[in-house]
Amino acid sequence: MTVKDKTVLVTEANRGIGQALTAEALARGARRVYAGTSQPLLHPDERVTPLSLDVTSTAQIQAAAGQVESLDMLINNAGIALPDDLTDSAVLERHLAVNLFGTYAVTQAFLPAVTRSRGAIANILSVNAPAPLPFIIPAYSVSKAAAFSLTQSLCARVAGQRVRVHAVLPGPVDTDMTRGSDIPKSSSESVALAIFDAVDNGEDEIFPDPAQRPWPPAGAICSQAA
Ligand SMILES: NC(=O)c1ccc[n+]([C@@H]2O[C@H](COP(=O)([O-])OP(=O)(O)OC[C@H]3O[C@@H](n4cnc5c(N)ncnc54)[C@H](OP(=O)(O)O)[C@@H]3O)[C@@H](O)[C@H]2O)c1
Repeated sequence: MTVKDKTVLVTEANRGIGQALTAEALARGARRVYAGTSQPLLHPDERVTPLSLDVTSTAQIQAAAGQVESLDMLINNAGIALPDDLTDSAVLERHLAVNLFGTYAVTQAFLPAVTRSRGAIANILSVNAPAPLPFIIPAYSVSKAAAFSLTQSLCARVAGQRVRVHAVLPGPVDTDMTRGSDIPKSSSESVALAIFDAVDNGEDEIFPDPAQRPWPPAGAICSQAA
């Protein structure tokens, strides 16, 4: 699917990868970009419609769904990553609340609109979904692994309705999330560009940084269902 003349929703578009995805969608000629945000967002492009959208808030998700008449592409980008050592279940629950259940709830709310348009969903996961970092961010890794599994199953379940579901598995990206980590990182702009290119190409599993591709794509799960 190409983004030109389409409507796109990005959860949490005010910084990091979400901000870059918003800019890239606009650069590719999106007709409207719904920019999920937790704080007031003033965007100079009139094609951007801010939406108050905490992905853990059922009320905000319902209100946002009511504001969006039609939708071609949902990008579940909102996420948290906190360092932990798996000793505190509350930290694991916080990750699951945003990275798994937030993604699930937003998807459920907008799936009817995306289905009507025979559109696409892209879930921003992580290479830590298949390859956890047990000594740095294990709870984050658990949540992204669960969200990856959710993405794969959803992909298979909606393929018959001509909805594409893309799993995006970035490596380290230079955003607030990795501030302080002295490791090689991709820019959020290059990641956004690679994501839309891969969506254009119909890739089920998207590795926006080729250096991070850890194993052959398992897109067969989707292809078999289509
Ligand atoms: N940076 C990386 O290295 C990297 C690598 C792989 C995958 N990812 C994934 O890429 C996505 C974007 O991350 P990023 O690097 O751009 O990080 P970021 O700059 O920290 O941005 C994360 C965004 O998620 C938002 N968020 C957190 N909790 C939320 C909630 N309950 N509802 C709505 N929004 C919420 C934050 O909103 P606030 O501004 O309100 O805090 C923030 O804008 C995440 O899913 C992350 O896991 C990042």
